[in-house]
Amino acid sequence: MGVSRVTATCILTVVVATSLAVLTPGARGLGRDDDFPPGFLFGAATSAYQIEGAYLDDNKGLNNWDVFTHTQAGRISDGGNGDVADDHYHRYTEDVEILHNLGVNSYRFSISWARILPRGRLGDVNPAGIAFYNRLIDALLQKGIEPFVTLNHFDIPQELETRYRGWLGAGIREEFVYYSDVCFKAFGDRVRSWTTFNEPNLYTRFQYMLGVYPPNRCSPPFGSCSGGDSRREPYVAAHNILLSHAAAVRNYHTNYQAKQGGKIGMVIAMKWFLDPIFFGDYPRVMKEMISSNLPKFTPEEKKLLQTNKMDFIGINQYTSIYAKDCIYSPCALNTYEGNALVYTTGVRNGKKIGRPTAFSSYFVVPQGIESAVMYVNDRYKDTPIFITENGYSQHSNTNMEDLINDVERVNYMQCYLKYLSSAVRKGANVRGYFAWSLVDNFEWIFGYTVRFGLYHVDFDTQERIPRASAKWYRDFLTGSSLKDDTVQSAP
Ligand code: NOJ
Repeated sequence: MGVSRVTATCILTVVVATSLAVLTPGARGLGRDDDFPPGFLFGAATSAYQIEGAYLDDNKGLNNWDVFTHTQAGRISDGGNGDVADDHYHRYTEDVEILHNLGVNSYRFSISWARILPRGRLGDVNPAGIAFYNRLIDALLQKGIEPFVTLNHFDIPQELETRYRGWLGAGIREEFVYYSDVCFKAFGDRVRSWTTFNEPNLYTRFQYMLGVYPPNRCSPPFGSCSGGDSRREPYVAAHNILLSHAAAVRNYHTNYQAKQGGKIGMVIAMKWFLDPIFFGDYPRVMKEMISSNLPKFTPEEKKLLQTNKMDFIGINQYTSIYAKDCIYSPCALNTYEGNALVYTTGVRNGKKIGRPTAFSSYFVVPQGIESAVMYVNDRYKDTPIFITENGYSQHSNTNMEDLINDVERVNYMQCYLKYLSSAVRKGANVRGYFAWSLVDNFEWIFGYTVRFGLYHVDFDTQERIPRASAKWYRDFLTGSSLKDDTVQSAP
């Protein structure tokens, strides 16, 4: 989704923000009640492997990320892992308390598959895993915070990784349906919002095209791995994920929805993936380009997809990029996007699309959220949309004062929310927004080198310290005074 410039308002906001002593939402003309409809969900998001820690506690099984980070620590920027992370497993009550203090009405988290089914469907359900999520869900509900639950956010039991090479083996579909059924049964009386997968479009690329995520499969020129086929396997994995998703949705719709009253969707990053779910097949142009490397849906599978549409779409929206057509113009086509005959970049004629962040590929392009939402809203016919992630990263080695007084993050959130409210005003069916993330956490192959949290985490003491952005968000959500929590200007 290419968007070329930052509007005057948000440029102005950035400049002004660095010189103001106190930031107030009113100063930016943004209000929860004025700019968003009643019942809109405002929350913060996390995922199990990134925050829970407790990696062997209470009979949890090893998962693919436990094994990957332990055996290939050199592939993680700082050699880190999720063994302890935010120790959320033991500190969840404190984390529910900080959510409550923020004033959010929803919390997006994921369930660790290996905590529930350490050995997949051929082993037993782990009662301690069920008990943990019961405690978390109940604690949230007691504070009036609605759980928004992701079933699979990158981590799968290692036994399944080994047995099926992750998502490559068709047998994993049945595993996922079984696992999701256990979750609907155990938690569905209290969970009204389910998502099957998080960003499968990016994840399959990292796993099977670039080979940087477990099970580290790829082929040249995409990467150097000990096995794999970058031109074929990402599509096989995605195919299995799409069918796992549709089968889990069918099960939820058929056996649970009427009595539990919830909804089920999927979370994607803004690149291809939704067409097969909504229209029952891959786009024609994709079939032509990927040709025999793209699996085919059988007539029954097409029907499964078409008759089990999801109830809502989750979008993770952080940045925007330029896209260049490579059918009629020259491009280097040995890249991921090359498969799609499109070249994408954040820089054009030496100029970045927006201000850079700690993530080299993420630029600040607030109006991109409006374009993305309007596009999805039009294409998928008013299906309810949730922004399931949006956030700003800082380098961990930034000085402490700037880490805490994160005026750039405050500006980022304000500007993105402003453009989101503009999409709502234009009629987009947006139902919620989740900031990534509640707390600093394990950022996959970047380990702990970047920080996305509204709360700063001291990983030596596990102390959570509210950043300026947490205070701003609370103020925006609750209208409570900032007087004790003044946001200091950047020096
Ligand atoms: C998307 C992923 O869902 C999440 O796990 C990750 O930490 C954030 N983006 C930031 O990169």
